[in-house]
Amino acid sequence: MSDAPKTDDTDVTVADAEVTEIEAPEVPAPPPGVPITVNGETVHATPGRMLIDACEDAGVYVPRFCYHPRMTPVGMCRMCLVEVDTGRGPALQPSCMLTVSDGMIVDTESEATKKAQDGVLELLLINHPLDCPVCDKGGECPLQDQTMSYGPGESRFIEEKRHFEKPIPINDNVFLDRERCILCDRCTRFAQEVAGDPLIHFIDRGNNTQVNTFPDDPFSSHFSGNTVQICPVGALTAKPYRFKARPWDLTEIESTYPNAMGDRITIQSSRNEVLRYLGVDSDAVNWGWLADRDRFSFESTMNEARLTAPLVRGGGLGAPDPAGAELVGSTWSAALAQVAAALDAARVNPSSIGVIGGARLTNEGQYAWAKLAKGVLGTDNVDAQLGDGIPADVLCALPRATIAEACAPGGTVVIIGTDPKEELGTLYLRLRHAAIHDDVKLIELTATETGLSRQASMSLRVRPGDLGVVADAIVRGDETAEIGLTSTADIAAAHAALNAADQVTVIVGSGSLAEHTALTVEAINAFASRSKVKFLSALRRGNVHGAIDLGLAPGLLPGRTSLEAGRSWFNDKWPTTPAETGHDTAAMLAAAATGKIDVLVLLGADPLIDFPDPELARAGLAGARMVVAVDLFANDSVYAFADVVLPAAACGEKSGSHTNLEGRVSAVRQKVTPPGTARADWMIAAEVAMHLGEDLGFESSTEVTDEIAAVSPLHAHATAAAIEDAADGVLLGNASTGGPARFVWQDLGAPSPATPLDRYSFRLCIDRTMYDHGTLTLSAPSLAPLAAPGSVRLHPSDANALGVVDGSAVRLSSKRASVEGPVVVDARVARGVAAIAHNHAGLDARALIELDAPVTDIRIETL
Ligand code: SF4
Ligand code: SF4
Ligand code: FES
Repeated sequence: MSDAPKTDDTDVTVADAEVTEIEAPEVPAPPPGVPITVNGETVHATPGRMLIDACEDAGVYVPRFCYHPRMTPVGMCRMCLVEVDTGRGPALQPSCMLTVSDGMIVDTESEATKKAQDGVLELLLINHPLDCPVCDKGGECPLQDQTMSYGPGESRFIEEKRHFEKPIPINDNVFLDRERCILCDRCTRFAQEVAGDPLIHFIDRGNNTQVNTFPDDPFSSHFSGNTVQICPVGALTAKPYRFKARPWDLTEIESTYPNAMGDRITIQSSRNEVLRYLGVDSDAVNWGWLADRDRFSFESTMNEARLTAPLVRGGGLGAPDPAGAELVGSTWSAALAQVAAALDAARVNPSSIGVIGGARLTNEGQYAWAKLAKGVLGTDNVDAQLGDGIPADVLCALPRATIAEACAPGGTVVIIGTDPKEELGTLYLRLRHAAIHDDVKLIELTATETGLSRQASMSLRVRPGDLGVVADAIVRGDETAEIGLTSTADIAAAHAALNAADQVTVIVGSGSLAEHTALTVEAINAFASRSKVKFLSALRRGNVHGAIDLGLAPGLLPGRTSLEAGRSWFNDKWPTTPAETGHDTAAMLAAAATGKIDVLVLLGADPLIDFPDPELARAGLAGARMVVAVDLFANDSVYAFADVVLPAAACGEKSGSHTNLEGRVSAVRQKVTPPGTARADWMIAAEVAMHLGEDLGFESSTEVTDEIAAVSPLHAHATAAAIEDAADGVLLGNASTGGPARFVWQDLGAPSPATPLDRYSFRLCIDRTMYDHGTLTLSAPSLAPLAAPGSVRLHPSDANALGVVDGSAVRLSSKRASVEGPVVVDARVARGVAAIAHNHAGLDARALIELDAPVTDIRIETL
């Protein structure tokens, strides 16, 4: 007899019962969804799913023209007609307008369906021109393909076809051929629904119905290239690609675009020339969309002005004029030897070496340069931000949101310091969709109306300089506060909205160039003091989030680890670590200006244009004993000051990975070879190290990726194999596990009081636009004309008070300097604010900035 306890009312022990228990047969769980029958097969589909998608899920493709899964279905083309029986007998129904229901019987191959498809195609082709041999879409055209698969064998139409003027420009880069248009409403829906730029419409009636813009009102949209990508025929074509290749000449690879969103793209090329970027429908990131600046920027990488071989000022030793002022072509070995000799001499005092930039690089390039600078040379003077960002240690400490979390239905998003429409195009599209379709409440704190103001449930005008105190008053619910332009009622309403929110995402950009970074940090600090808040950084520069994660910032080591916390961990992995915390870009330039920097490396940086103080940038570059540039182009700083220039590979020319604003690491893939002898940045770092007699320890980009995963606990899951396999990338966590400690949020104290503004002054706001005079825009011929000339934007009542109109010339004076420029009257600018876009031709407002003051006030006089 067993010693096991007896049950209450039998004398069978528990142990006996276990032995005699008969296992019930496993009943399989019913498949999720409702059963429907597609061409005789029973499948299960999610209730509410569009029938056209449910059929595709079941492996049955239904032809379509107008349906697009990211836009509202309109049932325009009738190409998706299928026979559906919902209990009342079979009938032809457009499958893009019908959601699945229990027991639905669908036949996509019946005689009636085929006759309908045949008829729709015959109708579409009645007026369609016989352009296929000269049409850009030929070879990748759904109309061609579906006519072959489902259409009539011949035409019965012998009358004259409808004619329109052959292609007309609807903006600078998109052409419309109305004869080819099948009136599917995709482009018009995209413009209205997705981009929020309803500038193309159907006009006229009946046989004359056409897509067009209104006279003198072109399709000025930052997103117009998406209409070309989604047009199912060759009616819309993009100037940068027109007549460059036939689809069958193209080969392609999927990659990541090097912007802060990490948009997924397909790179297409022919004969080693990149000819097109297309957006990839990544659920997590860009949903297939791209901003035009990014889509057409492939022209920049193909520009003939690209650096193709090393340059050395004067030509180096043995050249006819080694002390000459010109940059002269050189060899890699001579240029690298010169760089290595300078670094070798300087490394006895590591703080005499500085590295500025790095956001252009892949993660692998960034890690290699971080290892070379910090782990071999021992300098911590490394900064990927150029004095116009957010301190890296602040960003590292913040709990991060994903884009999906920010856009989750019913959520609340606070936007500070950025206009996503101008800075991060596809983030704008995601937020706009979330606000319109998913009831996400947007609360923006801004000095000027932004692209999202119309969708925002609250758009609070905040004068530059007041952001920290306004954020603090909103979080605390200070009902007495009226701060500058922000009313008590606004503050109370925003406080109530925050309190009502379950989870809040704060999207934080770097703010106006004329505001001290501390003010943005104050605002971050105010929101971070609240529970259930996550952050999404809207820093705009390329792979800046990768650069911070991999240690390209003073006081940081790879893995969002502080120098102090990670020193012993990295001392085991690298030859050395910096002995002391280094300088940021401003301090590096100041040190260089006083002769304390022997070698200054510019990693894709142009301080003359990008740093907020052009005078200090010039003095620093002039004061460094040697300036080494690793870049794609000889930008202003390189041209004027670099002693050695090493040509680097661009997007599409190198492999590796990229980190986006969420911390999502995704694959960057090579499609073409770099021009001349240009090479990947990690390779350049490894070769510099080799000339110094050191070995960075990797011989391929994959080996660098795996070393990052091995040394940085934050990246432990982001191995080369994992990144390669993950279509939406590998999401880094918020914290490192094991290994070095991470940052702990430091309370920076109460926000400083708002600074008063006298009645004759204007507060300076220097913001950013999608198109400026940066190297990327200027080196892409299709983008360069889109950069507007510089101007000062004023509210109409301020313009009225000053007696100025559009185009009036004015002088702007701060305590520091005066500059002149034309006025643009703009009702989107708050009263008392003078807004100037950074890096536009003819008006450089950086000279006005009082760098040590929280904000800059200016006077305006007419000329
Ligand atoms: Fe031919 Fe398609 Fe061009 Fe029409 S849109 S001309 S079917 S390739
Ligand atoms: Fe459709 Fe293209 Fe015509 Fe626009 S231009 S309605 S996308 S066919
Ligand atoms: Fe369904 Fe056009 S795809 S009507």
